[in-house]
Amino acid sequence: MTLDLAIILPTLNERDNLAPLVDRIEDALGPNGWEVLVVDDNSADGTADEARRLARGDTRVRVLQRIGRRGLSSAAIEGFCATAAPYVAVMDADHQHDPKLLKTMLEAVRSGEAEVAVASRFAEGASMEEWGRPDREKLSSVANGLARRLTGVELSDPMSGYFLLSSDTARALVPRLSGIGFKILLDLLATSERPLKVKDFPMNFAARRAGESKLDRAIALDFLAGLYDKSFGRIIPTRFALFGTVGALGVLVHLAILYLCLLAFGAGFTWAQGIATFGAMTFNFWLNNFLTYRDRRLKTLGKVLAGWASFVAACSVGAFANVAVASALFSRGLHEVLAAMVGIGIGSVWNYALSSRFVWGR
Ligand code: GDD
Ligand code: MN
Repeated sequence: MTLDLAIILPTLNERDNLAPLVDRIEDALGPNGWEVLVVDDNSADGTADEARRLARGDTRVRVLQRIGRRGLSSAAIEGFCATAAPYVAVMDADHQHDPKLLKTMLEAVRSGEAEVAVASRFAEGASMEEWGRPDREKLSSVANGLARRLTGVELSDPMSGYFLLSSDTARALVPRLSGIGFKILLDLLATSERPLKVKDFPMNFAARRAGESKLDRAIALDFLAGLYDKSFGRIIPTRFALFGTVGALGVLVHLAILYLCLLAFGAGFTWAQGIATFGAMTFNFWLNNFLTYRDRRLKTLGKVLAGWASFVAACSVGAFANVAVASALFSRGLHEVLAAMVGIGIGSVWNYALSSRFVWGR
């Protein structure tokens, strides 16, 4: 019996869901022709150990434990690249997705009826009643509408986390996927230069079995970053755009502190400018750590302090480049505002290059 289908299960704290899910997959697909690839991001609850325990007794189960990396999309991507099966499915490990659909989805793709089979919560005949989360249902429907408009992908549920396609198609797109966030399907469809033939399969989106959802907090942010990335990411990369936005906010913080020092505390300009610069750098470090590099966030006190110190050092180099370039242009007759803007631009690129390498680099 040959290997047909790899079912990629991205996991973050899903220990108790794994064994029953493998049973359900076996019920749906029969004993052979498939493998389950658990891509675990070093879950604290021992999901990877549990997956290895299952794998020892069942060679259809494989484990990829990632340490120091995070994210549903990137987990799926590594899954695509780690299987020899000609078809891959991505599915949630918490039992919200019914494995019964795998067979029909596989047939549709194998027969060429579709290139991507998508289990949809919004297709005719689907249901979300068991989910019991009307708030999330609403959010998903709004996000779907937005995604359809911005990417031109015509699909009832581009946010679905349950789909199946040929491994070759998936791998061919991998070099151009952003890997940010968890909208892996949308990413695949929007990245393909040629529109992929998609078929919807109405699903009954169930409630999660054990544990809790991981997507609530980061949902809006990752989603928006992903949409930005697809729309403008090739012109200005998402991370740099975030870094620049944080920098612009930092200017406001700088001015606020400056005026506070000057007006409320009667400080001299040099002191006020110094304190404001320091304050703005600290603010920028904090917000970049929170937003721009949320996937690589420095967390422990020691790391935060070291990161902050190297950020200040990196920014000082940027500031030096900024002033040097701006003065040189100004002295050659360029208008002062233009000279300042070029300086700021060059300083930002410098800061970005240095801090992505030395503050949040790995
Ligand atoms: N490896 C890895 N790394 N897996 C993750 C990560 C991560 O950072 N975050 C979540 N997962 C896994 C979970 O363990 C689960 O198996 C699956 O990805 C889905 O995560 P949930 O936390 O259960 O997501 P949800 O139920 O809130 O969201 C559902 O709806 C979204 C659309 O609204 C899922 O079906 C999503 O796939 C879907 O996009
Ligand atoms: Mn879930």
